[in-house]
Amino acid sequence: MTRTDAPAGPGGTPPRLPSPLVEAVDPRFERRGVRLVLKRDDLIHPELIGNKWRKLTPNLEAAAGRTLLTFGGAYSNHLRATAAAGRLLGLPTLGVVRGQELADRPLNPSLARCAADGMRLHFVDRSTYRYKTEPRTLAGILRAAGAEDAYVVPEGGSNVLAVRGCRALGEELRDADGVDVAALACGTGGTLAGMAAGLGPGRRALGVPVLRGGFLDADTAALQTAAFGARRGDWSLDDRFHFGGYARTTTELDAFAEDFERRHGLPVERLYVAKMLYGLVALADEGAFPRGTTVAAVITGAPFPAAAPRPQAASR
Ligand SMILES: Cc1ncc(COP(=O)(O)O)c(C=O)c1O
Repeated sequence: MTRTDAPAGPGGTPPRLPSPLVEAVDPRFERRGVRLVLKRDDLIHPELIGNKWRKLTPNLEAAAGRTLLTFGGAYSNHLRATAAAGRLLGLPTLGVVRGQELADRPLNPSLARCAADGMRLHFVDRSTYRYKTEPRTLAGILRAAGAEDAYVVPEGGSNVLAVRGCRALGEELRDADGVDVAALACGTGGTLAGMAAGLGPGRRALGVPVLRGGFLDADTAALQTAAFGARRGDWSLDDRFHFGGYARTTTELDAFAEDFERRHGLPVERLYVAKMLYGLVALADEGAFPRGTTVAAVITGAPFPAAAPRPQAASR
């Protein structure tokens, strides 16, 4: 469904909101009496994909023409989305990239895309990057980058405006037919914090962290407190599916993602979405969802470089 009153997005492309909710017939869920639906946030906008639309658009408005500065690693989805948003809106962007050593190497495809979209890249060493949220370190980075007046968005894009923007994801699922559990992959926890707040009573949110460390419960609660004044909604995390940490994978996970693409005709983003889908299949297999449960898997992103969707194969 496309809402006709939705405002035009960056570059004039209207966002597809609410994002589509599609049935996914999958015997691994059916045999447990569980219905699986896919919340296709990856289809919201061709360039501001998934949670990036929900997190970035309120910040782009708040930047009001100032340079938007943000942070990321060499393959950051968030940096690419920010660069694309800047190009679409004619807003200057500056990406602070982890790893001084990268400054002397050819740009990888992800950073090359950022640069092609007009993002100025500023490389910092890993120790400076680690302390970038401390006021003195941040001031030093802004000074060195010549961007003292910039509008600063944190790594991963999860500030108060972004979390409030993600509440609409939960509200869309609340208004959809019969969703009991909404699952998504987590980096900073910002999308989960917003979605859980919007889900309303009787529905629960499940976050699958893709980073190791077990810090996300406190971080997500802190984001909710900053955005809404208190912890909101019924949410929990399952820490078992990070596959060793950010950007780590195994042949088993790769095979799982390829198989999911074949079954459902959906390009599966590997850093986040694949781990969440793997987790859901494992949980269904464990009998973690009571019979009759409808589980919505939120597709928060798309692969980079974009993969052509594969033809849907018979799923039984
Ligand atoms: C595709 C995708 N899914 C999920 C996330 C996690 O979002 P959050 O940092 O709000 O937890 C990200 C973050 O960059 C992402 O790129």
